[in-house]
Amino acid sequence: HIDSGTVSEPAKLQVQLREAAAILREGGVVAFPTETVYGLGADARLTAAVEAVFAAKGRPSDNPLIVHISRNDQLEGLVEQVSPTARKLMKAFWPGPLTVVLPVKPDVLSPRVTAGLDTVGIRMPDHPVALALIEESECPVAAPSANRSGRPSPTLASHVLEDLGGAIDGIVDAGATGVGVESTVIQVLEDGSVTVLRPGGVTLEQLALAAGAPVRLDPALLPESGTASDLAPRAPGMKYTHYAPKGSLSIITGAASEVSDYINKNLHEAAQRGERTGVLAFEEHIGMYDADCVESLGSLSDLGTAAHRLYAALRRMDEQNISFILSEACPEEGLGAAIMNRLRKAAGQTVIRIG
Ligand code: TXA
Ligand code: MG
Repeated sequence: HIDSGTVSEPAKLQVQLREAAAILREGGVVAFPTETVYGLGADARLTAAVEAVFAAKGRPSDNPLIVHISRNDQLEGLVEQVSPTARKLMKAFWPGPLTVVLPVKPDVLSPRVTAGLDTVGIRMPDHPVALALIEESECPVAAPSANRSGRPSPTLASHVLEDLGGAIDGIVDAGATGVGVESTVIQVLEDGSVTVLRPGGVTLEQLALAAGAPVRLDPALLPESGTASDLAPRAPGMKYTHYAPKGSLSIITGAASEVSDYINKNLHEAAQRGERTGVLAFEEHIGMYDADCVESLGSLSDLGTAAHRLYAALRRMDEQNISFILSEACPEEGLGAAIMNRLRKAAGQTVIRIG
């Protein structure tokens, strides 16, 4: 086991990297940091290694994995054709939090990676440790987020250990990840327009600017679709309840003053029932709340902080055995689209509109 338990000094990190690359080459599974969340990596060509990833996570086998590369020239060995719009977007956002779904080349990757689909999601992460690991292992690295299926994605190595310690061959610890929510998953359609299958670190607004073509959210992910929707999301992973804390979580939206009054009243009533209470709120309103666990998502004017903090905050609710959680909402612009997508999933789509 190559865990250090703490952020590694540069020399130690070098050793961890070398060992992690060796484990990947030998068909093992290793957790590593990316700029979004920690991933659990395996050589994407080896079915046994990929199966070990599914087993460690307890992940449904119909949910395909993203394949991570470190150089553009690795792309052509993995996929059939790349449309001009897809190229443009890779050029604009790689390395970075963008996963592009492309037609997979037959007989290169383990069929478990794509869960039987004829496409594969490819991404080049913007993290020196992730890039060095891919380089050194000389593998296309299949890597889902390194959490137990259903738990919030890990933004610290300690989160990975909590969920997967004992079930994996190692972890490279380089401290907290940056973005904090996962990559944006896109597919370019025949007409050159772009569908966002999962909102993430690259915003729809950024994509539209770079693509010079229409960019739409997969209709199955629109807030109005809720869980009752019979639209099947085209990213298989988006249909599963993710990130769910153990306690009940509801999102409260409406005019700011009414939201805080509603949250306060309901936290108070829950406390009187004997619940342990929690609130997720923006820094502007944090002083208004009284709960057993109060988590600030940072300022409403800086949603990057909310993305960075969200999963760790959800994990702390569980650590503190919080049974009743209310969360503020943010506008679904920029990173707000990814934040609200993840919050709604964590809340099982329970959004209460007041006023
Ligand atoms: O930021 C990230 O993307 C992180 C880091 C580790 O790179 N990875 C990650 O992987 O979030 P995972 O497996 O937790 O989520 C992958 C998402 C799932 O929703 C999956 O259904 C979707 O991408 N996906 C993967 N391959 C796909 C494909 N061929 N077609 C449609 N959706 C796909
Ligand atoms: Mg995941």
